[in-house]
Amino acid sequence: MEDLIILYNLLLHTLLFHSAVAVAVAVSVASLFGEIYPPRSFRRLPKTLFLTLTLNLQWTVMSEMTSRTADILRVSSHREVYEPCDDSFALVDALLADQTNLINHDPKVCMEIGCGSGYVITSLILLLKEKLPNVHYIATDTNQIAARVTNETLQAHGVSAEVVCTDIASCLEKRLAGLVDVMVVNPPYVPTPEYEVGMEGIASAWAGGENGRSVIDRVLPVVDRLLSEKGWFYLVTLTSNYPSEICLGMRKRGYASRIVVQRSTEEENLIILKFWRDKDEEGVDKETSSESFVKQFSRSLSSFMEKQWR
Ligand SMILES: C[S@@+](CC[C@H](N)C(=O)[O-])C[C@H]1O[C@@H](n2cnc3c(N)ncnc32)[C@H](O)[C@@H]1O
Repeated sequence: MEDLIILYNLLLHTLLFHSAVAVAVAVSVASLFGEIYPPRSFRRLPKTLFLTLTLNLQWTVMSEMTSRTADILRVSSHREVYEPCDDSFALVDALLADQTNLINHDPKVCMEIGCGSGYVITSLILLLKEKLPNVHYIATDTNQIAARVTNETLQAHGVSAEVVCTDIASCLEKRLAGLVDVMVVNPPYVPTPEYEVGMEGIASAWAGGENGRSVIDRVLPVVDRLLSEKGWFYLVTLTSNYPSEICLGMRKRGYASRIVVQRSTEEENLIILKFWRDKDEEGVDKETSSESFVKQFSRSLSSFMEKQWR
């Protein structure tokens, strides 16, 4: 269907372009020989055609770009559910940037922990579904309303996933151990007093306890158990979560990491990390090289930020 739309737009553009050129040439030639004195509105025709062409082209490019991720207008909402925000968009941008790799990765099971409105899992499905129609998608959240809202968002986009209301992945761990090929997590990461973590309602969407790490630190070992040998893990963090420490912790479990997206907003400095199992990481002298690892991470973060400011 998408191919048909592209073909239709291509034909329309070609037609409009050639009509505009033909009219422009005809008007110029006729005026040159003094044969006709085209009225003002007729003389504006080529310009109008070109304008239509440009607008149509822009619309096509925009819709092509947006149809690859969830449409924000079709994302369901509820006052007790986290609305897609800068962090959600940065995570989807990271997946979008990695789309070709993700397709080549050929995942069989993809999962999101803490799905909220369903914006991220729906976008992941839309990114992969054309090339990989048989992937099984799972999304979890502790918030029952979020599970319902995610189902509504999925339905509004004509896609489906298994949505489970559970703490991290507790009721799925046995079934999914070693099977998840792609895991995405945008956890509650805001540094808050510890008692706010896991509170009822919307606060549980962002309250991350000391250094914003309470939920993150509980998620990491679960992800390690669920990921398949070739599994990839995308995690949203803030600089105040000490992402280099997170990478170091994961390195001790045998994972390599890199920054996929770095974004600074007025309120926060977001870093989207990607992890994958790496044989080389298992052999390194973990204790003595910690300090150099943190330095290396800081260097790569600075160069990442520099590139963005340029
Ligand atoms: C920052 S929001 C992200 C929502 C959505 N993924 C997005 O990016 O827009 C964090 C989500 O994690 C959920 N959450 C918090 N603690 C959780 C836990 N222990 N297990 C599963 N989900 C949790 C919250 O209810 C919330 O929906």
